[in-house]
Amino acid sequence: MNRDRIADIFSSENTGHEVTVMGWVKTRRDSRGGFSFIELNDGSCLKNLQIIADSNLSNYTEEISKLQSGCSVRIKGTVVKSSGKGQTVELQADKIEALGWADPDYYPLQKKRHSFEFLRTIAHLRPRSNTLGAVMRVRNAMSMAIHRFFQEKGFLYIHTPIITGSDCEGAGEMFRVTSFDLDNIPQKNGKTDFEKDFFNSPAHLTVSGQLEAETYALSMGNVYTFGPTFRAENSNTSRHLAEFWMVEPEMAFCGLEEDITLAVEFLKYVFTYVLKNCEDDMQFFNRFIDKTVIETLERIISQAFEVLTYTEAMEILTKASRKFDFPVKWGNDLQSEHERYLCETIFNRPVVLTDYPREIKAFYMKANNDGKTVRAMDVLVPKIGEIIGGSQREDDYDTLINRIKELELDPENYWWYLDLRKFGSAPHSGFGLGFERVIQFVTGMTNIRDVIPFPRTPGNVSF
Ligand code: 4AD
Ligand code: MG
Repeated sequence: MNRDRIADIFSSENTGHEVTVMGWVKTRRDSRGGFSFIELNDGSCLKNLQIIADSNLSNYTEEISKLQSGCSVRIKGTVVKSSGKGQTVELQADKIEALGWADPDYYPLQKKRHSFEFLRTIAHLRPRSNTLGAVMRVRNAMSMAIHRFFQEKGFLYIHTPIITGSDCEGAGEMFRVTSFDLDNIPQKNGKTDFEKDFFNSPAHLTVSGQLEAETYALSMGNVYTFGPTFRAENSNTSRHLAEFWMVEPEMAFCGLEEDITLAVEFLKYVFTYVLKNCEDDMQFFNRFIDKTVIETLERIISQAFEVLTYTEAMEILTKASRKFDFPVKWGNDLQSEHERYLCETIFNRPVVLTDYPREIKAFYMKANNDGKTVRAMDVLVPKIGEIIGGSQREDDYDTLINRIKELELDPENYWWYLDLRKFGSAPHSGFGLGFERVIQFVTGMTNIRDVIPFPRTPGNVSF
């Protein structure tokens, strides 16, 4: 079915030519002058195309006048200049066909505005709402920007596996992958006999593609992976998903400073791209979701990020006049209240924290000489907190294997990872950006469940 996209009709602003549009009716209202106004949306842009349907069209009474919100239609007509507010062109219809009806007694998207909680219960229809449509277009543009950024810099896109035998973060928050009949699990010496499972050993969904990305960085230079990751942490917050997408660059011959420089440049690139390519959607967020989003992004693009060590941050937090719910103590992980306080109250900009205590970070981070901290870096932003976690990687074989043993991880599971430190080891670094968190930041959406098509959270996988 050849059709013209509404976004193209608006962007060309040509008039006098014939087009065929297809989409879903947002509203239809009768005008006293003997015609109907139909607001049509096809998902290509936020704006609806206004259609003028004259009552002398042959199927006016039996079809057109019965169109309601949610119906799908095919409309042939001529693009004309519009005198209406907020639009440059509209469509004078020659022919309107109803393709699919939507019974108004049952169609759940009747009102102009629905709560996001309600929309989550109809995840299959919510992309027809203005907000979710705008989020998904911005999400699409950001994916594009991410690939463009890395491709322009010569990074190779590596598809790291989803099913893995190793726990990257060593935090044990993994979903198991098995083909066992769960009612009849093979046993050996009173324990699950994984040799009989599909992979002959335990397998999980990956929490991060980093370890595998490292192997490719240490043969191909600069690489990145961008795919779904999974965490079985029982965090029911507005910033956690059980399935989320992560962007992970990994660079050989690269230290922590260059890693930070890349992260800052990367975020600025993505923000600039969205402001330029999603103007209408961003205006929408700025108007209805958070009145400061555009200004905040513009300011961040033009500013340097604040870079300081974890220890320096702890000193600031200890002196804070504000009372926190979680105690501020050297050695404790930062909670989002601390991260937000630094970004919003102290620095009023994104903050990069480095050199965290080794105890609260993953086994693969490069140890500092002080024996207490590691070459970690987290990027924190106002309103969200952490959006990037990264580090220089431990490239010394003995230090790494000792750390793995110290944490009671099984070196056998990491033999290939350790091999990289035996054969042509090199300083290397990378980071992981939580894709949904950065979409939240860009759009101002407060709940992470509303920036991914089908959110998976504790207790919710229905659709
Ligand atoms: O800080 P994390 O755990 O780092 C890693 O996984 C590293 N292996 C990345 C790397 O160095 N290649 O996760 C990275 C980012 C976090 O900063 C956060 O933005 C996001 O992933 N993230 C989540 N996003 C949504 N839901 C969750 N449950 C998340 N957990 C982490
Ligand atoms: Mg982290």
